Amino acid sequence: MDVMKKNDELMMIEGMGQIEMQECVNIIVGANNYANELRREIEMETSMKIEAFATYRDYKTIEWFEDLKVDVFENLTSIYPQKKINVIVAIGYSQKNKIREKVFFDCKQYGYNIIRYISPRANVYTTRLGEGTIVRAGAHVGVNVILGDGCIVNCAAVLTHDIKAGKFNFFGARSCFGGGSDIGDYCFFGLNSTIKNRLHIADFTLIGAGANVIRDTESNGTYVGNPARVLENHSEH
Ligand SMILES: CC(C)(COP(=O)(O)OP(=O)(O)OC[C@H]1O[C@@H](n2cnc3c(N)ncnc32)[C@H](O)[C@@H]1OP(=O)(O)O)[C@@H](O)C(=O)NCCC(=O)NCCS
Repeated sequence: MDVMKKNDELMMIEGMGQIEMQECVNIIVGANNYANELRREIEMETSMKIEAFATYRDYKTIEWFEDLKVDVFENLTSIYPQKKINVIVAIGYSQKNKIREKVFFDCKQYGYNIIRYISPRANVYTTRLGEGTIVRAGAHVGVNVILGDGCIVNCAAVLTHDIKAGKFNFFGARSCFGGGSDIGDYCFFGLNSTIKNRLHIADFTLIGAGANVIRDTESNGTYVGNPARVLENHSEH
């Protein structure tokens, strides 16, 4: 019985990587290298076809990015009448993930369907991933991990087990988290950072590349080094 339950759960997890193909268009919100990288990966990993990039009208400076057209974000419903508009919010961590949050809520306001994209090349052992979460190839998201809305788990990040993280966090490539971590909202974890088990990471924490975090963090703090120390007077990027 238990084994069957496990299999069911795994099937559900695999299903997350599949996108409803009927009468819908798939749009990547963002039109830069990060968005394009994600788009290429999705098209290589799945049968999903991306129709276009989209950016806000006021920020649209190009008609095409690589070989894909760039639509006006606000106009997607009129550009694709009668279609369900699936969007992948491919916005990085600028302004401490606040831009991604804004786009997320604008998508809701326009009635776009925000996709949760789980790479079929990631190992994901939880179903408790928030709306719009992106988990990229090689990442490990273990048992009893809970992620809030709009999180990005980049390539080869390791969220071992029993981790609770809030909304709009960005887990950089190869960042690694011990079990029992309790992570707030809007945090950024740089490349190859290590977060010891059972720590509390406060909202808006910024962890620099390669940092080794061994103590709880304070809200809005920037931490670098081994052991990680606060980077004083660090201004927001
Ligand atoms: C922490 C970080 C945000 C600081 O950026 P910054 O404000 O431009 O800082 P600076 O480059 O001016 O460096 C300020 C000081 O911190 C040190 N420092 C910066 N980043 C560091 C890091 N990751 N580890 C150790 N020391 C670091 C610098 O050597 C410098 O020290 P000094 O004043 O003694 O010379 C940035 O260096 C960083 O690590 N970003 C993460 C990049 C990343 O992982 N990207 C992944 C995208 S997927």
